[in-house]
Amino acid sequence: MTDLAAPGLLLAAWLAVAGLVFVVLLFLPAPYGRHARAGWGPTLPARAGWVLMELPAVLVVAALFAASGQVRSPVAIAFLLLWELHYLQRALVYPFLARHSAGGLPLVVAAMGLTFNLVNGAFQGATLFLAEPARDAAWLRDPRFLAGTALFLGGMAINWSADATLRKLRRPGASDYAVPRGGLFEWVSCPNYLGEVVEWAGWAIATWSVAGLAFALWTAANLVPRALAHHRWYRERFPDYPPRRRAIVPFLL
Ligand SMILES: NC(=O)c1ccc[n+]([C@@H]2O[C@H](COP(=O)([O-])OP(=O)(O)OC[C@H]3O[C@@H](n4cnc5c(N)ncnc54)[C@H](OP(=O)(O)O)[C@@H]3O)[C@@H](O)[C@H]2O)c1
Repeated sequence: MTDLAAPGLLLAAWLAVAGLVFVVLLFLPAPYGRHARAGWGPTLPARAGWVLMELPAVLVVAALFAASGQVRSPVAIAFLLLWELHYLQRALVYPFLARHSAGGLPLVVAAMGLTFNLVNGAFQGATLFLAEPARDAAWLRDPRFLAGTALFLGGMAINWSADATLRKLRRPGASDYAVPRGGLFEWVSCPNYLGEVVEWAGWAIATWSVAGLAFALWTAANLVPRALAHHRWYRERFPDYPPRRRAIVPFLL
């Protein structure tokens, strides 16, 4: 690992919060989408909520890159491009493609997502662009960068393709659910979450950074419990749900 700039105590606290979030989400799925329930306060229109929640990640990392002395570093530019490829899609494309149900996104969920994206974006940008000296361009040929980037892009392709499959299950304006079929859906209930976890594991490897590793762990802490909750929900809702399908890891989980 090349960056040890985040003070150890702060990092330990950040990871402890991820562990706590993991345990809480195992018992209490975040109240949006199919797990929405009464008592979580006012909601935002889902599209606006997703943009509000995800845009800070686009902006904070771009701002830290611009403020750093690394704007001409090929490695810093490569990290920025990977990051923005994901977050521009998530903040400005996904919300307008998704066929959101009418219930909206609870303000409290949007606020938590926004806070996470601000803190995580600041952590990634500060450690990669400010705390570390610019890496030598040879990093772009390092097997860790190449393998991590391949994982990142492969995970992203899985995530985008699974989200596209889910979109096709619904007519615009509808809120119904159907059993998704085809591709990785034959193996797991949530290939979009699987893709996302793979993607950020790839980021951790490509950046070979403590910040990247922390984000990969946070992503799993968020999405593994949610995949388990989705999977339980599918099995309860559809009695003929394919029995060999797992929640997020083929054959295992
Ligand atoms: N990095 C992270 O920590 C993180 C956290 C959360 C989400 N994300 C990413 O953000 C994206 C959206 O997340 P999400 O939690 O909203 O995913 P999701 O629960 O799988 O839902 C995605 C979209 O598809 C719809 N949908 C899901 N299953 C359906 C079915 N069986 N039939 C019809 N429509 C269905 C959902 O509608 P409803 O909303 O009405 O259910 C929603 O519009 C994913 O790509 C996910 O990986 C990342």
